[in-house]
Amino acid sequence: MSAEPRDRQKTLALRTQLIGSSCKLFFPEDPVKIIRAKGQYMYDEHGNEYLDCIGNVAHVGHCHPEVVRAAHQQNLMLNTNTRYLHDNLVDYAQRLSKTLPEKLCIFYFVNSGSEANDLALRLARQYTKHEDIIVLDDAYHGHLTSLIDISPYKFRNLEGQKEWVHVAPLPDTYRGLYREDHKDPGTAYANEVKKIIDQAQQKSRKFAAFFMESLPSVAGQIIPPPGYFQKAAEHIRNAGGVFVADEIQVGFGRVGKCFWAFQLLGDDFVPDIVTMGKPIGNGHPVSCVATTKEIAEAFSATGVEYFNTFGGNPVSCAIGLTVLDIIEKEQLQIHAFQVGSFLMELLNQQKMRHPLIGDVRGVGLFIGVDLVQDQEKRSPATKEAEFIITRLKQEFIILSTDGPGRNVLKFKPPLCFSAKDAELVVDKLDKILTELEKGNV
Ligand SMILES: Cc1ncc(COP(=O)(O)O)c(C=O)c1O
Repeated sequence: MSAEPRDRQKTLALRTQLIGSSCKLFFPEDPVKIIRAKGQYMYDEHGNEYLDCIGNVAHVGHCHPEVVRAAHQQNLMLNTNTRYLHDNLVDYAQRLSKTLPEKLCIFYFVNSGSEANDLALRLARQYTKHEDIIVLDDAYHGHLTSLIDISPYKFRNLEGQKEWVHVAPLPDTYRGLYREDHKDPGTAYANEVKKIIDQAQQKSRKFAAFFMESLPSVAGQIIPPPGYFQKAAEHIRNAGGVFVADEIQVGFGRVGKCFWAFQLLGDDFVPDIVTMGKPIGNGHPVSCVATTKEIAEAFSATGVEYFNTFGGNPVSCAIGLTVLDIIEKEQLQIHAFQVGSFLMELLNQQKMRHPLIGDVRGVGLFIGVDLVQDQEKRSPATKEAEFIITRLKQEFIILSTDGPGRNVLKFKPPLCFSAKDAELVVDKLDKILTELEKGNV
């Protein structure tokens, strides 16, 4: 590690020389060099403080001292693999199981969201003995080859759609096929899944899984309408497939009302597989797949061992356990609900003032502000969104955009984000929107 931070331009030059150019920077014209962070704040080499509105990995706050301590203490003692007995592994699985419906009682620990989703694919295929997968439009499920194949957000720009992949419409009631004026958009969108299944079955295709992020985030911070999970699950299960809920961005209390986002549409819905990542280790690379006994048994029945060198090691499990402790001790789930509701209220007031804001949607600290050029047509205000995040960065606020039109401002801050932070960012947003609308830019 260099003793002194390099000058930002030198770091940039070295990065350009040494790191693959497909690894992108935020604000490529003027990237930020962050050298330390605490809670919801990050600091550059000059000591400037940035408010982090998107760092969903630093779930309980950047560099939380208890997480750092847990990692250090376990590192001093032992770090090895799951071929030895260790209490951290079973303690952690036990603690996670308490957050989930009873049926989801078997755990596999891996190292990244992509690894978790890749394993979920294998589990689903082994259990069902089928191959085909349904995914939502504009979804992203990871960077492995297997997951690029089921991520329309990526494969549309590459070799295209494999014959075993089927894309269902995004259950987006603002800009999608069925909108807020539809009497039952949940059923209507789930019927689209059924239509896809029926058409594919006519060609003798067989379904292994319906894969969806419980709240589609890359696709534009979408909140699925009531009944959607239940009905889509019924259709995929009738076709012999399973329901995989990708909670990699949205799990662990972020949505406030419940611990897992798949619980938002009612307790009567339980996925067959849940994948977890990002916030689970507060920045440490750990992730997890939870599933049913039946699916796990079908996976074991092949007789092929599942071994993962780093997955489930004592250090990762110590960190995971500490993250769960902090969420509980600091009451971060209820905090996410309260601060998230307050932020939504402030943003909705802005919606009344600024015609550029077409929609404000969210739950807890998962919020999207959909910017439009025209309230009627709901056409994405892409350039304006880019301008806003660039201007906010000049005001030391880090925000970014999502959605196929890159026009949805996304809020997914560390859960310690405060009401004061919410006021600050909305105040700045108000000023920038006013500048934009007056044409002073
Ligand atoms: C919804 C979702 N699933 C999976 C992944 C892949 O996770 P990772 O980057 O940890 O491999 C991501 C990453 O952005 C994601 O947003």
